[in-house]
Amino acid sequence: LIVTGSSLIITGDKRPCFFVAASDGESVGNCPFSQRIFMILWLKGVTFNVTTVDLIRKPADLHNLAPGTHPPFLTFQGEVLTDVNKIEEFLEAALTPPKYPRLAAKNRNSNTAGNDIFAKFSAYIKNTRADKNQSLEKSLNKALAELDEYLMKPTYEEDQGRRGVESTRRYLDGDELTLADCNLLPKLHVVKVVAKKYRKYDIPSEFRGVWRYLNNAYKRDEFINTSASNEEIELAYMDVAKRLGK
Ligand SMILES: *[C@@H]1O[C@H](CO)[C@@H](O)[C@H](O)[C@H]1NC(C)=O
Ligand SMILES: *[C@@H]1O[C@H](CO)[C@@H](O)[C@H](O)[C@H]1NC(C)=O
Ligand SMILES: *[C@@H]1O[C@H](CO)[C@@H](O)[C@H](O)[C@H]1NC(C)=O
Repeated sequence: LIVTGSSLIITGDKRPCFFVAASDGESVGNCPFSQRIFMILWLKGVTFNVTTVDLIRKPADLHNLAPGTHPPFLTFQGEVLTDVNKIEEFLEAALTPPKYPRLAAKNRNSNTAGNDIFAKFSAYIKNTRADKNQSLEKSLNKALAELDEYLMKPTYEEDQGRRGVESTRRYLDGDELTLADCNLLPKLHVVKVVAKKYRKYDIPSEFRGVWRYLNNAYKRDEFINTSASNEEIELAYMDVAKRLGK
């Protein structure tokens, strides 16, 4: 993928963008970090081809490009970026208006809203002790409640002259998807799918802000077409989600 002249190359010009392959070795597998980059490129309006990488049978050309790294990564002038935050930063700085839209959130807090949900989810889903299940589920709910509160509270723009109204915005920072959503949505989706499958857990319906957010995201190709299938996500957690002891 060559974007501005020949200055931005994502993993070589013939195999533009590498994502983790699904269990079939071909379709897009579960990797919220790859999906984040995938969504950013799509929202930027960059045309690219997706090449999936089977991590078990890593092709030699990938190994030569970025030895020892896992997708996603970006190569630029011989340098390899492997940190997903650095890749995001790089893309936002390299792909700028007028040709490409800016995607950074306007409100700083949008970047951190919901940022401990995934850690709480991981602790909950990996737990094997029945006596800890309840408190771990409570922690997950607390993290989701904080996100809900953020989503229900009007943004600065929405609040103008309408004090106290409930927010109706579609996404974290407003009615447009931003970098903050590219980070959070893939993880939130994994939480929803995996906790349901292995703990029969549903994100509580009282979190109306979270559900509004998810349902709006499920209307967007940029999100759903970059997601692994539910089966693939469940499979990825088969060994991680431990059974609760008696
Ligand atoms: C993607 O792949 C198709 C088919 O191989 C090719 O025609 C097209 O130029 C590629 N697009 C990009 C952006 O590399
Ligand atoms: C875990 O705890 C929650 C809250 O007490 C409970 O509703 C749920 O059924 C428990 N899950 C399992 C798999 O035991
Ligand atoms: C996204 O997925 C939908 C449903 O699978 C499909 O109809 C649509 O063409 C896809 N969009 C793009 C741009 O690939």
